[in-house]
Amino acid sequence: MAARTPIVGGNWKMHLDRAGARDLLRELRDELGGIEGVEVVICPPAPWLGDAADALEGTSLQVGAQNAYWLPHGAYTGEVGAAMLIGTARYILVGHSERRHLFGETNEETGRKLAAVLELGLEPILAIGELQAEREAGTTREVLREQLAAAFADVERLPEGFVVAYEPVWAIGTGLTATPEIAQSTIADVRAMVADRYGEVTAEACRIQYGGSVNAGNVTELAAQPDIDGALVGGASLDASAFATICRAVAAAAEGAA
Ligand code: PGA
Repeated sequence: MAARTPIVGGNWKMHLDRAGARDLLRELRDELGGIEGVEVVICPPAPWLGDAADALEGTSLQVGAQNAYWLPHGAYTGEVGAAMLIGTARYILVGHSERRHLFGETNEETGRKLAAVLELGLEPILAIGELQAEREAGTTREVLREQLAAAFADVERLPEGFVVAYEPVWAIGTGLTATPEIAQSTIADVRAMVADRYGEVTAEACRIQYGGSVNAGNVTELAAQPDIDGALVGGASLDASAFATICRAVAAAAEGAA
């Protein structure tokens, strides 16, 4: 099996004022600036993306946006076009559950965003995940399959190392982390779905993160699972030392597995 470089994202969501963001960026640069064996992507709120790009320049840390619109420009008040992020952000989160469930983003819109981000040569992190009721009803596989099918509708091929974040909605911000067994088996299912669409080689190279209440205490067991290639971290990404611990644990797990 080809080794996959794991990837950890820190999704700050709508937190921190400018001074707080700059402080955290400085701390992250100090803690993680030279980290190896894991790719690290920092996703601050949109107004602080430029500060992040400046603060992290010259380090291996990447900047990611939390969302972007698929059209490049036009009369779309309040939107940020993915094309506008070129030169500032390398990664763009697409289809985070808060976009889907709080702001009504549809599977089809997620698909348009994904296609646009790939077309621009930027790196998407495609987030998918089921609601608690869907998990309880036993429809998790169908839900994920539908989300992936819509996201991939206009995407003929995936770049090597494409990133999916599997985030069960019931685990996000709730403290209810999926057990390593649930996370592993669902992520193995997701990898099989990617293989059905794009073939085994692409699926084996695809990096699939787990997200949902990941913290410094539970990351090691999650990262030890063979199909889990890192984490998408919300709450714990606002604390530089907790986030650094998570990134180091993911790198160590990958090294241990190599
Ligand atoms: P959480 O958020 O780590 O706070 O659960 C994860 C996410 O929304 O990506």
